[in-house]
Amino acid sequence: MTEAWKSRIAAAFGTAAEDYDRVGRIQWAVAHEMSRRLALAPLPDRPRVLEVGCGTGFLTASLLPCLPGAHWLATDIAPEMVWACERRFASQPRFEARVMDGEHPDLTPASFDLVCSSMAAQWFTDLPAALAGLWDMVRPGGFLAISTLGAETFAEWRAACTACGVTPATPQYPDAATYADWLGDGAEVIEAWHQAESSSALTFLQDLKVLGAHIGQKDTRPTPPGTLRRVMRQAGMRGFAATYHVLHGIRRKPA
Ligand SMILES: C[S@@+](CC[C@H](N)C(=O)[O-])C[C@H]1O[C@@H](n2cnc3c(N)ncnc32)[C@H](O)[C@@H]1O
Repeated sequence: MTEAWKSRIAAAFGTAAEDYDRVGRIQWAVAHEMSRRLALAPLPDRPRVLEVGCGTGFLTASLLPCLPGAHWLATDIAPEMVWACERRFASQPRFEARVMDGEHPDLTPASFDLVCSSMAAQWFTDLPAALAGLWDMVRPGGFLAISTLGAETFAEWRAACTACGVTPATPQYPDAATYADWLGDGAEVIEAWHQAESSSALTFLQDLKVLGAHIGQKDTRPTPPGTLRRVMRQAGMRGFAATYHVLHGIRRKPA
């Protein structure tokens, strides 16, 4: 089942690779927020960086210029995203991209000064276990920095579902305290809220599809079209604002 789920995720984002940059306004803002924080982290002059769920390269584009000597390994579960990222950074020295499931990194433990990821970890099937696996990749003195979605994400859509007696297909994301706990001792979590303004709930759902982010949580059936129409009417036919609640988590390994 997990394999089938991972294939669905890879296929959805693979299809999205071409148009992702056109609609990924919030993902771009989140990548900037994270790179602003990481630019201040005491990293070596030529850090080895592992990026997980690179997509078309929003975080890469924002952070790589702050770390000009970095050896960068960008990874994603969707081959089309890896190719898009590779094309974008083809002229960068010491830059590599490849397909990898970030929940199962087939890399040498303790070999990266920075393991980072922006807006990808919400797709992991077991986030606490995945965080532990990525933490193992961090060298002593290095950083794990993972931004993901928090509990208040799409609260408006969830409220519309509840009002219609429908169980929302959007997953239950962790709150900041739970996420800090999953990251482990000494982790710091900063919260941010972004609003995606759409002309209607339908446009919001259509944009999620362009982003590849339209598949509901694992093991749920797609909402029948009639039910979906009811929820969309409830949510807003003229104007719909959806909250992205973002958790920027960072943890440093003792030297
Ligand atoms: C919303 S996009 C974010 C991409 C990019 N980091 C950004 O900020 O624009 C999520 C990305 O995570 C990737 N992804 C999902 N599950 C993954 C996994 N288990 N391992 C690696 N990448 C994954 C998807 O293929 C997609 O490219």
